[in-house]
Amino acid sequence: MTAPSAAGRPAASGPAPDTAPGPGYAFDNDSVHAAEQHGCLAAAYDTPTTAHLERTGVGPGWHCLEIGAGQGSVAAWLARRVAPSGRVVATDIKPGRIPAVPGLVVLRHDIVRDPLPERAYDLVHARLVLSHLPERRAVLARLLRTLRPGGRIQVDEFDSTHYAALLPADPDSRDLYARFHQAKLSALRASGGEPAWGRDAAADLCAAGFTEVEPVAHTEVWTADSPGARLQAHHTRHLRDRLVAAGMTDDELARVRHLMADPGFRAASCVFYTVQGRRSAD
Ligand SMILES: C[S@@+](CC[C@H](N)C(=O)[O-])C[C@H]1O[C@@H](n2cnc3c(N)ncnc32)[C@H](O)[C@@H]1O
Repeated sequence: MTAPSAAGRPAASGPAPDTAPGPGYAFDNDSVHAAEQHGCLAAAYDTPTTAHLERTGVGPGWHCLEIGAGQGSVAAWLARRVAPSGRVVATDIKPGRIPAVPGLVVLRHDIVRDPLPERAYDLVHARLVLSHLPERRAVLARLLRTLRPGGRIQVDEFDSTHYAALLPADPDSRDLYARFHQAKLSALRASGGEPAWGRDAAADLCAAGFTEVEPVAHTEVWTADSPGARLQAHHTRHLRDRLVAAGMTDDELARVRHLMADPGFRAASCVFYTVQGRRSAD
């Protein structure tokens, strides 16, 4: 792996421009919208994520790898968990939002192509990263090799094709919400991602050679004040250029934000899959 990156701090200069459409990771940790994105993800998903991580038995002395750590809330939780003798390596292509925490090593690292040590970790975790990578199956093979025999993996991913506006029930709102989600699916696929990959993650872990693979599905109903609904409104900003390229207008995106802020709004969440597995003991 590359050396710890002191360059991985937030950019000192002004706000980065919005992401332009094109292949490559659809979001951008340097965007002015990134803090909102990572805040929503932590608020919505850190509780289920860490509850499942607890089931692996992670504790003092473990060596863990957190891939695509984002703002590092899960990595920091792991670092507290493995203290005082353990170690957590938190990686990201743009690691500037990962906090400096005792026991946490922060690396600027591309999980697709940068070196990865073999038989090094007791636990590997990746949330909402692999679905963005066209090379995700090859990455799973790398993750298997970076685990020590008997080591554990947890992958958390969406199936974003599961959506529905439940209330308000007027046809215009339901149609607008459906068109927004269809445009988002198109935009994410145009960037090389697969926003339905959560449903394939367990099968792909098996195909990569992991054993004891177990998927768990989590859904909820989003209300206007829920982090899940705030994340959808956030997408209208962070993915604005990509959504416009996929056929939405700025007026429609403003109407989506208005809908998400309606106290009467209810929507079925996407499915959040947590998949655990392990590398078999030699
Ligand atoms: C949707 S965010 C999820 C962040 C965090 N895992 C979470 O769930 O809160 C995806 C993260 O993966 C990072 N990422 C994207 N491509 C990557 C790659 N090839 N290698 C490592 N990290 C990557 C992004 O920079 C971003 O921080």
